[in-house]
Amino acid sequence: MVKVLFVCLGNICRSPMAEFVMKDCVKKRGLESNFLIDSAATSDYNEKYQNRIYPEVKEILKENHIPFTDRVSKQMRKEDYHQFDYILGMDEQNIRDILHIIGSDLEHKVYRLLDFTEKPRDIIDPWYYGNFDATYEDVKYGCEKLLEFILNSNQEMIK
Ligand code: 4NP
Repeated sequence: MVKVLFVCLGNICRSPMAEFVMKDCVKKRGLESNFLIDSAATSDYNEKYQNRIYPEVKEILKENHIPFTDRVSKQMRKEDYHQFDYILGMDEQNIRDILHIIGSDLEHKVYRLLDFTEKPRDIIDPWYYGNFDATYEDVKYGCEKLLEFILNSNQEMIK
């Protein structure tokens, strides 16, 4: 079982989008039973106010026929470091905040999602910059490349 945690600042835009896009990629490959996929926030704000996935994210997921379940934001906990194999931040600030939560990344589990692509870069926060279509394209590209990387590292999973 490969355990993947997507992390962003609020856990209401980028990381839940990545969670459901990745679940869809894995399902389409018939690999659901090999994966546990979740998402979390670096900040406590949206968990405190029980905020849910942002409506524009749900719209984009619907438009692209990506199944999802609505739920409230949750903050990443230090223990998550031991529960997950891959911890994917969306931008450099997320990585700094994740390292602040976990202490140190001794097992090299923490990456930016787009570090698995030919164009490593941040996924810009649509909460502040508003381009949800661009976010979806980045998230989809990152998830496809991440899945390729995981499958190459776990050859036994490829049917
Ligand atoms: P996300 O976007 O990190 O992609 O979920 C944000 C959503 C909410 C807030 C910040 C970023 N906020 O400050 O509430």
